[in-house]
Amino acid sequence: MEMQLWKELLSPYKLAVNEIVVKFKYLMSEYKLAGRYCPIEQVEGRVKKVSSILEKIHKKNIDIEELEEKIEDIAGIRIICKFVEDISLVVDIISSRGDMEVKEVKDYIKNSKPSGYRSYHMIVKYKVETINGTKVIPVEIQIRTLAMDFWAVIEHSLQYKYKHNMPSDIRNRLSKAADAVIVMDTEMSSIRNEIMDAQNSFDVKAKLVTEILNLMQSLCKVANRREIVNIQNEFYRIYMTGDMAALKRFYRELDIIAEGYRSQYD
Ligand code: GTP
Ligand code: MG
Repeated sequence: MEMQLWKELLSPYKLAVNEIVVKFKYLMSEYKLAGRYCPIEQVEGRVKKVSSILEKIHKKNIDIEELEEKIEDIAGIRIICKFVEDISLVVDIISSRGDMEVKEVKDYIKNSKPSGYRSYHMIVKYKVETINGTKVIPVEIQIRTLAMDFWAVIEHSLQYKYKHNMPSDIRNRLSKAADAVIVMDTEMSSIRNEIMDAQNSFDVKAKLVTEILNLMQSLCKVANRREIVNIQNEFYRIYMTGDMAALKRFYRELDIIAEGYRSQYD
């Protein structure tokens, strides 16, 4: 197949990947905005390279005519979570979405692959609109923790280096590392609540400071200089004490002052 035809064939896959990445990123920002814990840490997507597609159809003896039916990972999304528990939350989110229909799941976390590979895989059907009309694209979504991802990335590059001849001592080490990943994920889970609390209070503080700075900026336009300087000094003083309750009080008082100015100018 010539390159132009490949480009046309892969174009709706590219659209699907781009759309889905945008949607998950937006979901992450919605959690942040609502001040809620986000089960997704990172999201990335890729369209399989032509060389990898050719390699796969050769390996699996697939006719080039049927590659669109038979290869379900041309469009690929990877979702990385902090904790194992987050994976099932993400699976639930995906399963309940109206724009993705789950076709198949493979749970390589419960049943890891002989290599030691662990991840939760879903094949979903996703609709895109093209100049040739609606097209349903299969998309492979891989969901894994940061630790599982670390292992998979290292193992993949070693696979690439050794092709099918990975030395047995390296295999053994990878297998030990895979066991260590399980231990690490379990340890991390046991301190999940504490980490989530720390993350949340950090996010809440950052949000509060942003709101205060926005209010101070809008006050600059209407209040007099001396008042602004006093407010600024008071903000820095409270901020340096790290007292969140005082910071919240300060924000409320500032909001009342700003509201007073707003009503004057309405
Ligand atoms: P593939 O021909 O690899 O697509 O096999 P499959 O169609 O049976 O799908 P499978 O669920 O086994 O694997 C899909 C994808 O998961 C692969 O393309 C890899 O990205 C990833 N994967 C599967 N097994 C391994 C593994 O042992 N190591 C790593 N690093 N990744 C793996
Ligand atoms: Mg596959």
